[in-house]
Amino acid sequence: MNQVGVIHSRRLFLQQILQSRRHLTLYDQSSTDLLFHSIKLDRDKQKQNQKQKQMQKQLPWRRKDLTGNSLIASTLEEMENDSEFQLSLQNLKQMGQKKLTLEEKKIRRRALDDLNVPPFKEFKEAGGDRRRRQCEVLQLNIGLYCNQACNHCHVESSPQRSEMMTRKVADECLKLLKNSKSITTLDITGGAPEMNSEFRYIVEKAREIRGSNLDIIDRCNLTVVHEPGQEDLILFLKKHNVS
Ligand SMILES: C[S@@+](CC[C@H](N)C(=O)[O-])C[C@H]1O[C@@H](n2cnc3c(N)ncnc32)[C@H](O)[C@@H]1O
Ligand code: SF4
Repeated sequence: MNQVGVIHSRRLFLQQILQSRRHLTLYDQSSTDLLFHSIKLDRDKQKQNQKQKQMQKQLPWRRKDLTGNSLIASTLEEMENDSEFQLSLQNLKQMGQKKLTLEEKKIRRRALDDLNVPPFKEFKEAGGDRRRRQCEVLQLNIGLYCNQACNHCHVESSPQRSEMMTRKVADECLKLLKNSKSITTLDITGGAPEMNSEFRYIVEKAREIRGSNLDIIDRCNLTVVHEPGQEDLILFLKKHNVS
């Protein structure tokens, strides 16, 4: 999502909040099990800059010889100054991570109706096939760090998140891929998955293990190609036939 998209989604989000303020409703974010309310936004600019520098030091894969226009500084600033973001943070704090309200359930049901997804009871009564099938897609969320902080983001990614899949866990996942012949698609997501230092390792190893016999998806937010050190990302994705 580009910056215009982010701003647009924030406007939409504000409208949703204003419409639903009477019920203090927060849609998708209300059911996440991430402890979003425990993340404190740092209002002290100096502290924030220090934090950012520290985080950048921890990004060893960042190539110093390449420079791009990073969104990270402006994202952090927006998170601090954006009244909608602050409002949603306040509401989350007030609501905690409690279960869905009836109103929220109705909203979700309407969204599923729009997609022609029947309620489970109806599906069952209509004799829908409930047998487990072989697993075909291995989806890996390799980290919540992101150069953006979309208000709609259901995993609450942002430059303030630091969770990253380690090499050890990546190797375990690759073992799983190797031993699970039914898997035909490797779906890599995040955060901005490319900003995890293991991203390229995972792609290269997955290709090595399964050759052309595997679809690899990179859930790329596209703005990441402007981040310093990601200038060769498109070529890398092309080389390894990643879609
Ligand atoms: C969390 S993102 C991670 C990958 C990448 N950063 C991106 O934005 O595409 C994975 C997918 O979830 C979608 N997504 C994010 N928040 C969502 C929400 N609240 N409801 C439904 N889909 C959402 C995004 O549009 C994206 O396609
Ligand atoms: S992971 Fe990043 S780009 Fe993707 S939806 Fe979340 S904040 Fe936006």
